Amino acid sequence: MDDLKAKYLSLIAAAGDEAAIEDLRITALGKKGEISLQMRELGKMSPEERQTAGPALNALKDEINSALAAKKAALGDAALDARLRGEWLDVTLPSRPRRQGTIHPISQVTEEVTAIFADMGFSVAEGPQIESDWYNFDALNIPGHHPARAEMDTFYTHRSAGDNRPPHVLRTHTSPVQIRSMEATGASTRIICPGRVYRADYDQTHTPMFHQVEGLAIDKDISMANLKWVLEEFVKSYFEVDHVDIRFRASHFPFTEPSAEVDIRCSWEGGTLKVGEGDDWLEILGSGMVHPKVLQAAGVDPTQWQGFAFGMGIDRIAMLKYGIPDLRAFFDSDLRWLRHYGFAALDVPTLHGGLSR
Ligand code: PHE
Repeated sequence: MDDLKAKYLSLIAAAGDEAAIEDLRITALGKKGEISLQMRELGKMSPEERQTAGPALNALKDEINSALAAKKAALGDAALDARLRGEWLDVTLPSRPRRQGTIHPISQVTEEVTAIFADMGFSVAEGPQIESDWYNFDALNIPGHHPARAEMDTFYTHRSAGDNRPPHVLRTHTSPVQIRSMEATGASTRIICPGRVYRADYDQTHTPMFHQVEGLAIDKDISMANLKWVLEEFVKSYFEVDHVDIRFRASHFPFTEPSAEVDIRCSWEGGTLKVGEGDDWLEILGSGMVHPKVLQAAGVDPTQWQGFAFGMGIDRIAMLKYGIPDLRAFFDSDLRWLRHYGFAALDVPTLHGGLSR
């Protein structure tokens, strides 16, 4: 019995997989197994012999059974370990290389401006970039002979020979959306319109395509004072400061009367721009009370309704806020520039979350 025990324990210890364990179980304890046959011999023994051999055989059977079970469990653990090691995966790795794309400063600033004006009750309107002569000029009180047409360096679309209709233009400003939105929603309106505009001009502060945001508020009793408050609130929120001096400078636009250009106080000390301090002034927008002829052109009765409008350069205020010296770089698609001046993709500007943080 001791020989049997030694033999099977060493065979079990050497077994390499679960199939070998099962084979050993059958050879030892199966119906015709070596130990089972010994059990059968018990019947031939004398009662005295059986009394010692019976329990001893049972004990051997139990010992081999538990050695088989322990070895089987150990082999299972080892197999699981090997599989876990083989299928190891670091789920904390980023799914893509970090910071591949960034939000362009123009998009960022458009979102910031929209968040600020949305908070003041303005909704966003849009209009086409290829605009009719009527919406871009005439409806805005800029008739055919008006010098403003020449000053705007307009891009015209092609008309075939003999077609005498006025050509369409690439809109030179977002102001045509004033007319379109009054036509669409009626007199009472409060909108901003961010978008692309085009003028044939190219230097450090001008590109043939750039961005403006138009503002328009029309109601029964909207005055210049409302305009001033709205713009002051905007400038403070946008530059994220408690106080910014702004200056309304009398100006002229065909579509507003009276008209004012708005400057903000700044300094250029040491070649870097600081908004809100210093002795210099920087123009950021044009504005005024909507001209009665413009209301009329949009089908709004100027004896009943009045309001203000403004137009601001998005690229310009982006350059000011984020210290970007050359406008042309905005549109070069230089990856190094985009990585440097771009914004984190999930950092959506909100007033409560902080616009630019
Ligand atoms: N459209 C003007 C421009 O492009 C800006 C402006 C808009 C001025 C609305 C007054 C009112 O320069």
